[in-house]
Amino acid sequence: MADASGMRRNLANYGDAGFSVFLRKAFIKALGYTDDALERPIIGICNTDSGYNACHANMPDLVTAASRGIMLAGGIPIPFPVISIQESFSHPTSMYLRNLMAMDAEEMIRAQPMDAVILMGGCDKTVPALVMGAASAGVPAIVLVSGPMLAGSWRGERLGACTDCRRFWGRYRAGELSDQQINEVNSELAPTVGFCGVMGTASTMALATEALGMMLPGSACVPAVHGERRRVAEMTGARAVAMAKERLTPDKILTPGAFTNALRTVLAAGGSTNAVIHLTAMAQRLGIGVDLDGFDRIARETPVLIDLKPTGQGYMEDLHHAGGLVPMLREIKPLLDLSCLTVTGKTLGENLDAAPPGFQQNIIRPFANPIYSGGAMAVLRGNLAPQGALIKQAAAAQHLLQHTGRAVVFSSLADMAARIDSPDLDVNPDDVLVLQNAGPKGAPGMPEAGYLPIPKKLLQQGIKDMVRISDARMSGTAFGTIVLHISPEAAIGGPLGLVRTGDRIRLDTANRAIDLLVDDEELEARRKAMPAPPSGEGRRGYERLYFETVTQAERGCDFEFMIPKTTTTIP
Ligand code: FES
Repeated sequence: MADASGMRRNLANYGDAGFSVFLRKAFIKALGYTDDALERPIIGICNTDSGYNACHANMPDLVTAASRGIMLAGGIPIPFPVISIQESFSHPTSMYLRNLMAMDAEEMIRAQPMDAVILMGGCDKTVPALVMGAASAGVPAIVLVSGPMLAGSWRGERLGACTDCRRFWGRYRAGELSDQQINEVNSELAPTVGFCGVMGTASTMALATEALGMMLPGSACVPAVHGERRRVAEMTGARAVAMAKERLTPDKILTPGAFTNALRTVLAAGGSTNAVIHLTAMAQRLGIGVDLDGFDRIARETPVLIDLKPTGQGYMEDLHHAGGLVPMLREIKPLLDLSCLTVTGKTLGENLDAAPPGFQQNIIRPFANPIYSGGAMAVLRGNLAPQGALIKQAAAAQHLLQHTGRAVVFSSLADMAARIDSPDLDVNPDDVLVLQNAGPKGAPGMPEAGYLPIPKKLLQQGIKDMVRISDARMSGTAFGTIVLHISPEAAIGGPLGLVRTGDRIRLDTANRAIDLLVDDEELEARRKAMPAPPSGEGRRGYERLYFETVTQAERGCDFEFMIPKTTTTIP
């Protein structure tokens, strides 16, 4: 009875539908509902509040505000819990758990009666997981994010998680800050609740989701602690009731054009490389494949316009004060598919026309005067990355984008942790740091370890950037000349696993190439000595499922059996 509505939807199976409704109403009446209330459209509120997740700590308030909006519009709100994932509280990594959260969301949306659902997320993996789940469940869905945190301040300098976490930690490791000073910084990096306030993965995914049409226009950047965030929640609640009546399901919004718009938004925002993985996973749930070479092509056409850390200077609250995402979308309007339907029931083009007029500000640049014109990211291929790799060239040292150097190899995260700061490490500023076995299966969970720390002895010489390559991811808040998502990963036999210290590696970003300058015969000999890839054998539960079915970066790291047949490829 998935096509029934309200309390009659998705009945527990007792072999007698009438009895199932009777029983259900008996239990929910214990909460004090009247028969009249139980005849209204039901709006589920997928609540990811958790004591471990400060990025979502305003969710109780948002549930209240969204519920108010739902009731004002004649619906009944029913909040329910779904797994919550916070970056620094997820072992081994939040990415390892993203698909579990997506499955949780999908199954609970499908199992319980709701005519529409509000997806409340914020921290990096939560919005992708919720949208992946809702896309597969097929119930009308609208996203409400917790909103970014405000920036902090230390000795007159603005700072915020987590670009400044890395910057100050680097200065501490280099001996520039005392224990007391780094502790003072630590207390200011996340001064309020909300998601990280730079253009990290959470901010990028919030903008991408608004561009996708899954969120109310203008809502992605509203800070978590502002009254406006609660008004957005109320409006989201009211709109969810209308979407239930209109049967505005995700497949009508999440079209190939919408995903291409979202990818362009990520590029113009100078967003996180992680967004490419997440948008791929989300699109695939609708049978839409993402072609990395197509992504590189649109990257070349799309300048970086938003001046936020790590590619620029500002914080998300500045973007909010500059008008949010709408002014940026207006700047790249000729590149967008304006006909895409959104949660408002109107097209992206109609939403942009209806939004408040722009004004003078200095956070969103005009198309003709970008922060960076070469494309925020580039897709690399070569004998080191036959299935592709990414570099966020807008956040790299420009002189290192064309570079050949000697490899200094770390065979795992543990190996890197043990040796990177050793005074005996044989390393020079021109070397290429290589991290192996940090991909989806190798680590496991593809940790954000691609931002390999600069070895301490070089840091102390003032070295701020080096070419670093890995099959890992990197935080959207990080910066540097960092080649990521190398596929196939080392642990499953990818060529990255064949690199030895002393080999030469050539990064040629202009020609989109990353190559290991070792002859084929030698590589073949090394290949024969590689260990067997990790498997599900001897593992149990979710871990077994993960090892047996997780895909590589270019397929979004979703589980193979969750991905329907691809019917269209973008961009
Ligand atoms: Fe949650 Fe950064 S840790 S958004």
